[in-house]
Amino acid sequence: MISTTTVQARSQASRHAVKLARTAALPVVPSQYALGLRLGSCCCGASQASRASSPTPSSSAASSRHFSTTRAAQLRDFFPAKDTPHILKTKAAWPHHGYTMEEMTSVVPAHRSPRNFSDWAAWKIVRFARFWMDKATGMDREQQVDKKNPTTAVEAQQPLTEAQWLIRFVFLESIAGVPGMVGGMLRHLNSLRRMKRDQGWIETLLEESYNERMHLLTFMKMCEPGRFMKLMIIGAQGVFFNSLFLAYLVSPRVVHRFVGYLEEEAVHTYTRAIHEINEGHLPKWSDPEFRIPDIAVDYWNMPEGQRTMKDLILYIRADEAGHRGVNHTLGNLNQKEDPNPFVSTFKDREAPKPSLKPAGYERSEVI
Ligand SMILES: [Fe+2]
Ligand SMILES: [Fe+2]
Repeated sequence: MISTTTVQARSQASRHAVKLARTAALPVVPSQYALGLRLGSCCCGASQASRASSPTPSSSAASSRHFSTTRAAQLRDFFPAKDTPHILKTKAAWPHHGYTMEEMTSVVPAHRSPRNFSDWAAWKIVRFARFWMDKATGMDREQQVDKKNPTTAVEAQQPLTEAQWLIRFVFLESIAGVPGMVGGMLRHLNSLRRMKRDQGWIETLLEESYNERMHLLTFMKMCEPGRFMKLMIIGAQGVFFNSLFLAYLVSPRVVHRFVGYLEEEAVHTYTRAIHEINEGHLPKWSDPEFRIPDIAVDYWNMPEGQRTMKDLILYIRADEAGHRGVNHTLGNLNQKEDPNPFVSTFKDREAPKPSLKPAGYERSEVI
């Protein structure tokens, strides 16, 4: 039974989150700074040129920002590359393979129907997490999509604000980087312990967690969470890492299914954000002056003329669609014996493309 204190603490946390989201959306700075830098408090990827020519924001403006703990004047270089006497640049460990525009626009939100009890349980845990995520983002009833099709419907009576989206992105990505590392780590240890080949799973899982971290770092260049958000992220990581660690030891197949459902939610989130940009509901991100962070341009090799916030979200959504297809497929395979089809060379065809297979491949199709 849940104690009164727990209920009070939860509702207080929820109220605080709503307050944060609303505060973040308020224009707390003079209009010349409203674009990008703070979006209220939270979006600093915009127009560095206009920022460079602008005077330093007043301290009163900075002090009224609740979501971020970073003073407005410091936000643009939240985690700059360390300047050393000898090192020019540190390259990404896993360079991104890139996408064509057609590949990115073909991604659709989708849901794989649970086929047994463990699928159903994995899906329900994800739905429960999404419920709390919606609360933490301060989502009003009018901002919810159709409850009967929560993973595919993108229309809502009222759009989210840029600040609400960023809170959602940061929280989602800070969680999404955990499972690949847990799975990769445990399979690595298993391979060492049993002195057996892993057949290509470890690299894909570690690369997935690296890719998710790049998503997080990209959004962190646009906003720095305040203390409350950081506390929530630390708590969530502590619970999530340890639960996944134990769950992966017991049933890696169910964990891959769970991650497949989590990625369905990620594809849905980014599809809805793209839809709201297309509908003109997120004007700060549609502004031609808005500049996405250099870290993103470098990582995805984004071509000139294709570097808007919508382009960035298209890239990220394509990554999530890849994770969705990979994890649903891995959840269909024999965890001990089967090779990873996504890094294998086939006798009679091209390697499978996970981003275009929302429910994943059946074992008979790829092994
Ligand atoms: Fe992600
Ligand atoms: Fe993902």
